[in-house]
Amino acid sequence: MLEIGNIKLKTPLLLAPMAGITDHPFRVICKEFGASIVYTEFVSANGIIRENQRTLDLIKFTDDERPIGVQIFGEDPESVSQSALFLKKKYNPDIIDINYGCPVPKVTKKGAGSAAMKDLCRMEEITAAVVEAVGDTPVTVKMRAGWDEGNIVSAKAGEVLEKIGVKAITLHPRTTKQQFRGLSDWNHIKELKQTVNIPIIGNGDVKGYDDYMRMIDETNCDGVMIARAAMGNPWIFKSILCGLEGKPYKNPTLEEKTLLCKKHFHLLKDAKNETQCVNLSKKHFGYYLKGFNKASDWRIKFMKANNVNEVEELLDELIKYGAAYKEE
Ligand SMILES: Cc1cc2nc3c(=O)[nH]c(=O)nc-3n(C[C@H](O)[C@H](O)[C@H](O)COP(=O)(O)O)c2cc1C
Repeated sequence: MLEIGNIKLKTPLLLAPMAGITDHPFRVICKEFGASIVYTEFVSANGIIRENQRTLDLIKFTDDERPIGVQIFGEDPESVSQSALFLKKKYNPDIIDINYGCPVPKVTKKGAGSAAMKDLCRMEEITAAVVEAVGDTPVTVKMRAGWDEGNIVSAKAGEVLEKIGVKAITLHPRTTKQQFRGLSDWNHIKELKQTVNIPIIGNGDVKGYDDYMRMIDETNCDGVMIARAAMGNPWIFKSILCGLEGKPYKNPTLEEKTLLCKKHFHLLKDAKNETQCVNLSKKHFGYYLKGFNKASDWRIKFMKANNVNEVEELLDELIKYGAAYKEE
C-alpha cells in the first residue's frame, strides 16, 4: 500500500492537480471512482498570504475529499513557507504539495513553478522552509525532469528533496521547454525511483490500464497520477482498479455519462455562483460528451445556454436521448 508520510492511500491512483479543472465537484467525483487522493489546482503563495478571496476559494474542500493535497507555488522561501503555515492552520490539508512543474512563462519568469528546475538551490531553500514551517504535515513535491533536454536534473533534485524531508515526489518527466509536446520520458521516473527511498509517483501520458501497467513495470514507481485522461472520464480510475482486481470492466453507456453530467452539474450548482456553474458545466460537458452520434450538436446546444435553468432543461433532454440511445 502506498503511504505518504502518515497518510495511507487506499489505491495507487492519484488525481493530478489541474488548474481550472480539479475543483471540489470534480475531485469528489474522481474520489468516488477510485482516486485515492486528490489535489487542488496550484495556488499562489502570495495570494494566500494576502488572503485574496479568489485564491482562498481555490483551496476550500470538504472532509469527504480527504485525503487531499493542496498545491502551492511561489518564488521565495519566505512567502511559500508562510503560505504553507497559513494553510495548515486554516485548512489543515493532509498534504502540502509544492509545484515545481508549471512551465507557463508568466510563472517561471518570476522564479516560481518549474523555474526551480534550473535553480536547485532555490528549490532546496523553498522546500526546506516549507518543511520546517509545517512540522508534521507531509510535504510533497511535483516537478518536471529538468529545464531542457540538455539539463535533466530530476534524480539530483530527488536526492536533495529526500534529505530535506519531503515525503514523496511526483515526476512529470517532460522538460519545461517541452511544455506538453511529445511524450514524457518514463526513463527519468525509473532513474529517480532508483535514486531515492521515498515514494515516487509517476505521471505523464497514462490513458488507461495498459499504460498504468507499463508505467509500473518500466519504472517501478509507487503510484500513478493521472491528469488529462480523467477529464470527462473519471471512470478511468475504476477501469484501472477493475484491471488490478481482475474484475470485468465495461465502458460507461451514454446514459451513464449523461447521468454523471447531471450529478456534476448539481455539485457545481451547490459550490459556485451561477456564472461559474454555467461556464464550468460547459467546459466539463465538452469533455464528457464525445464519441457518440450527435455529440457535437449536444456540445453546441450547451455552449449556447445562458443560465442554470437552460442547462438543467438541456440536461433532462440529453438524459432522455441517452436512455433511448443504442450503443454501437
Ligand atoms: C488543464 C491543465 C491544468 C494543469 N494544472 C496543473 C496544476 O495546477 N499543477 C500541476 O502541478 N500540474 C498541472 N497540470 C499538469 C498535470 O498535473 C500533469 O502533470 C500533466 O498533464 C501530465 O499528466 P497527464 O499526461 O496525465 O495529463 C495541468 C495540466 C492540464 C492539462
